Amino acid sequence: MNAVLLAITRWDPESWAERFRALSPARDIRVWPDRVGNPVDVAYACAWMPPQGLLATFPNLRAIFSLGAGVDHLLADPLLPNVPIARVVDPDLTMRMMEYVTLHVLLHHRRTRLYQAQQCDRLWLDHDQPAASEVSVGIMGFGALGRDAAATLKRLGFQVAAWSRTTKAATDVEIFHGPDGLDAFLARSEILVVLLPNTPATEGILNLTLLRKLKRNGALGGCYLINAGRGKLQVDADIIAALYEGALAGASLDVFPLEPLPKDSPLWSHPKVIVTPHNAAASVPRTLVNNILTQIERLEAGQPLANVIDRSAGY
Ligand code: NDP
Ligand code: OXD
Repeated sequence: MNAVLLAITRWDPESWAERFRALSPARDIRVWPDRVGNPVDVAYACAWMPPQGLLATFPNLRAIFSLGAGVDHLLADPLLPNVPIARVVDPDLTMRMMEYVTLHVLLHHRRTRLYQAQQCDRLWLDHDQPAASEVSVGIMGFGALGRDAAATLKRLGFQVAAWSRTTKAATDVEIFHGPDGLDAFLARSEILVVLLPNTPATEGILNLTLLRKLKRNGALGGCYLINAGRGKLQVDADIIAALYEGALAGASLDVFPLEPLPKDSPLWSHPKVIVTPHNAAASVPRTLVNNILTQIERLEAGQPLANVIDRSAGY
């Protein structure tokens, strides 16, 4: 009893199993699909994109741990058992996302793509460089990851605002919230950083109508999109249309509606697009397994789990 099941696709389950065994040698670790044993023994499932219906086959499941910060991969399962779902909130993951966001904000701010193109032509040509304090960055999603990225960008001097679902107590970042706050938030944002979860309310939100509302006449002279949230937030064809008509001057995309990004997607070769393979903030067993074991110990000591999601909100 009290076995831990690893139900992982797309990533190597063995590196997670090894880390669990190293940190908790006495724990019974089962690995789907080959080493599941008797399903009645499994109390905890650690999952990344498990096959739909799989988790419903463990009658004594007490909790599900998402191995990523997002839980859309779990909530898409119509047979998902009704047990608490905890997601990853961890300094290592947060730091990785902060690095990605900062890197890509600076890359657009400092016109890196333009200088790379000029280098290919051996062209020595300087362009205007607005100060960070003249540039407004808008962060969609002010959760564990959005808050941390906002704090770093603010320290770098950018004018930072964020958009969330619910209102927030006073922060040193200007907050807009809900559908009513969206247009004003977009109208002041030149660089749009997206760190939203994929939920029924956010799916497809990054469409042409929204992108046209960004602040085009800011210090950068154009708008940039950085999506490291979820691919289903974005409409790829609308991003290409926005680049074509000038609503966007560039984009960094880490996530896509279909992953891996199909080989024939025009995004791969678009000169204004940077594609990364959904690795803005990787989940790393070395740091995250400890986090999950602590959660299991809490549960077994009768304490509440941390970072439990709200199923009705979808994140
Ligand atoms: P959190 O749950 O801590 O934060 C989510 C934020 O989004 C909150 O501020 C929430 O608002 C806001 N939000 C949710 N729904 C809406 C809505 N309908 N309208 C406006 N705002 C909304 O999540 P994290 O910050 O930890 O992670 C965010 C996402 O990043 C994950 O769900 C995942 O999809 C993605 N991710 C991507 C990775 C990558 O490698 N590309 C790695 C890790 C995560 P409120 O504050 O009001 O609740
Ligand atoms: C996550 C991810 O949700 O890696 O953590 O996408």
